[in-house]
Amino acid sequence: GSPFVAYRDAALHLDGVPLDALADRFGTPLYVYSQAAMLAALAPYQRALAGRKHLVCYAMKANSNLAVLQTFAQAGCGFDIVSGGELERVLAAGGDAGKVVFSGVGKTRGEMRRALAAGVRCFNVESEAELEVLSEVAVSLGRRAPVSLRVNPDVDAKTHPYISTGLKGNKFGIAHDRAVAAYRRAAALPGLEVVGIDCHIGSQITQTSPYLDALERVLDLVEEVEAAGVPIHHLDLGGGLGIRYTDEEPPGADAMIAQLLARIEARGHGHREVIFEPGRSLVGNAGVLVTEVLYLKPGAQRNFCIVDAAMNDLMRPAMYEAYMATAACRLRDEAPVRYDVVGPVCESGDWLARDRDLAVRQGDRLAILSAGAYGMSMASNYNTRGRPAEVMIADGQAHLIRERETPAELFRGERLLPTP
Ligand code: LLP
Repeated sequence: GSPFVAYRDAALHLDGVPLDALADRFGTPLYVYSQAAMLAALAPYQRALAGRKHLVCYAMKANSNLAVLQTFAQAGCGFDIVSGGELERVLAAGGDAGKVVFSGVGKTRGEMRRALAAGVRCFNVESEAELEVLSEVAVSLGRRAPVSLRVNPDVDAKTHPYISTGLKGNKFGIAHDRAVAAYRRAAALPGLEVVGIDCHIGSQITQTSPYLDALERVLDLVEEVEAAGVPIHHLDLGGGLGIRYTDEEPPGADAMIAQLLARIEARGHGHREVIFEPGRSLVGNAGVLVTEVLYLKPGAQRNFCIVDAAMNDLMRPAMYEAYMATAACRLRDEAPVRYDVVGPVCESGDWLARDRDLAVRQGDRLAILSAGAYGMSMASNYNTRGRPAEVMIADGQAHLIRERETPAELFRGERLLPTP
């Protein structure tokens, strides 16, 4: 999927650095990212939005390592956050709270207080009940909270099966037919200031048409809401643009945005600031997970390639049956064998790849590709496995950006019961 991943002299490189050498130096399992690949993925967003009031808020749930956040902050991005923890990461990475939008259906009062004190750009409010609580919290601090209502555009799933969060019947956003009333209420509450509207219709979207459908619905609402006397400044069109894992062909961000902007202009909304919240498309193909082959286990029905990475390190295959491509870090001139690539965790669901033809020996390394998004950020400590180390390649150099967790760190906060 990525031009940054390539073989040179039979050795797999990311951004010019051989992955085997990184595995020797930092151990496995190891996440490796390319800063240049992240910036290259951001460039089409910036190109398409140049000369126009805009903000790209990186949806940091995709990969929240501080060095990744630093990279995007320095490139001028804001952040889409979904928890108080993510806000602390933005601040620790030197990000600007004034460029943060706070999404999520279940913000706590404590998170609201902290975000107000930090001065976030906007709360993306997902229910009428949340409006009431946010206003109360803001009033108690003598503040007004900037709000955007996340509306659920109810885009038709039959024609656009990739959409999973923009439909009636899921927990996200405020229903289209409640939106005008919710905006009136927001405008009347003493602790709120309406600043925008937003929607997010799903993830790994590979066509432009669902975005266009959602946009039309959002603009319809903007017109209704403004007719009801509540001005709306910005349009936040969410994230969700897909990447190529295998043979997907998502539109480029520049082409997709150009179409959206053309519609926005055509309908007379060209003066509005636009915000996007991309996650996966900025980091997914900028990272790989390098893992060592521990054992090869031929079987009557299936052959297993047992590696030192597992579902706790990379959940997407186990959780969504997601396809992630695999590549040997060293090419061997041998006949490939068909394997299921599995980890050491005690679950049959612990697999990373199925039915892959690989020419590998015990001790070789494999790279799981397109692992930069929703890889490390979803990793867990199941089976008391420390999470992988992370390395970022920047300017041709490999930098350790997160140490491998040790067992002692994993139970550091635990306490034995008192002994009698
Ligand atoms: N904005 C909001 C409000 C979101 O909920 C999300 C993702 C994004 C932006 C960024 O979407 P992206 O550009 O990354 O598609 N763990 C799953 C993906 C979950 C996406 C959740 N929301 C996976 O590994 O496929």
